[in-house]
Amino acid sequence: MAGIIIVGTQWGDEGKGKATDQLGERVDFVVRYSGGNNAGHTVVVGGETYALHLLPSGILNPNCVPVIGNGVVIDLGVLCAEIDGLAARGVRADQVLISANAHVITPYHRVIDRVTERFLGKRKIGTTGRGVGPAYADKVNRMGIRIQDLFDESILRQKIAAALEQKNALLVKVYNRPAITVDEVYDELMTYAPRIQPMMADVATVLNDALDAGRTVLFEGAQAHHLDVDFGTYPYVTSSSPIAAGACTGSGVGPTRIDRIIGIAKAYTTRVGEGPFPGELLDDTGEALRRAGAEYGTTTGRPRRCGWFDALVVRQAARVNALTDVFLTKLDVLTGWDKVPVVVAYDVNGVRLDAMPMTQTELHHATPVYEYMDGWTEDISSARTFADLPANTQAYVKRLEDLVGVRISGIGVGPGREQTVMVHDLL
Ligand code: IMP
Repeated sequence: MAGIIIVGTQWGDEGKGKATDQLGERVDFVVRYSGGNNAGHTVVVGGETYALHLLPSGILNPNCVPVIGNGVVIDLGVLCAEIDGLAARGVRADQVLISANAHVITPYHRVIDRVTERFLGKRKIGTTGRGVGPAYADKVNRMGIRIQDLFDESILRQKIAAALEQKNALLVKVYNRPAITVDEVYDELMTYAPRIQPMMADVATVLNDALDAGRTVLFEGAQAHHLDVDFGTYPYVTSSSPIAAGACTGSGVGPTRIDRIIGIAKAYTTRVGEGPFPGELLDDTGEALRRAGAEYGTTTGRPRRCGWFDALVVRQAARVNALTDVFLTKLDVLTGWDKVPVVVAYDVNGVRLDAMPMTQTELHHATPVYEYMDGWTEDISSARTFADLPANTQAYVKRLEDLVGVRISGIGVGPGREQTVMVHDLL
């Protein structure tokens, strides 16, 4: 049996899709367990680029069953469009299994996400505006709509009406927006429900049975540790649990069934949206990294904020997620620098901290302390073994490994599926 979790160690966009896809050929099930279509995974297969938002990246491997767990919030229109988009390019995607307990993003969640951000003004979170946060809020508030509700008209109408009583008061009285009708919401959901019905499944049972039968299940994290609602830079976080523990609550598989937890770390750091980022480079260097790494959001197209590798950020994720391995991505982006700085500590009001501070106030006042590694100019994109890497690149990787405290088992040296250096097998 093998239960494997892939989790982001920074603020998302670490290139998790590539790592998942790498393993996907050897796994039987790939599971999304948190988030919604706020995620953006770019996978390049055979020279073709696929941008996925809701479906697990494993969809691109025909022998792998893609699964959407109960921890995910689903915009049905986006899901169907993604399935159709893949089908148009010859990728069969209708074999996806969707948990009956997953929640649905409705039109009122999307509207509320956007108007709330506008209302917050300077205090905005910088959400993706997809309705993800409001859908999770309703889930916890016990007024959400689940996939299974789509197939009971009377229950569905009652639930929509109850939710709209509250949402319309908010939209009309607080935000000065038009009210939404029950029919509008019902009709949108019904446009897609017939397509969703054959995909609905008891995902917890399917996955536990699969593990019992010795199959391999890969849990694919979206977002990342530092966007986690509990462990991230709250309130500048997403509204779910992208950390490894979330794979269990978001799918119905218990912790003892997990064998490997692979943290994905970009060889530098990026973040989209608002929130503290001590190593952020607001100068030409940041711009150069953004250009070299094509750091623009897959989901919203926003330019990503960039900085050098922050060892405190990834080490914290390594501990809370109990990582067994790290997969380092986009190392090729760092080619050509004379020196490659690494954040090894923070200075908080004159005090050196070797780990992330306990409080957000301290984090807001943290400035990075750098160690400067020698750079390399050689093209590393065709390296396939660790020995193929130049000596300075090897030294950089080894240093990150020491700082993070977890072995680096895989290294991405280019966007293609094959552009990977494997150091230790991930399965
Ligand atoms: P939300 O998830 O749309 O509510 O946005 C909350 C925060 O999480 C914002 O800062 C988003 O930019 C960030 N976020 C959400 N999903 C992703 C992702 O997949 N990658 C990077 N950042 C994300």
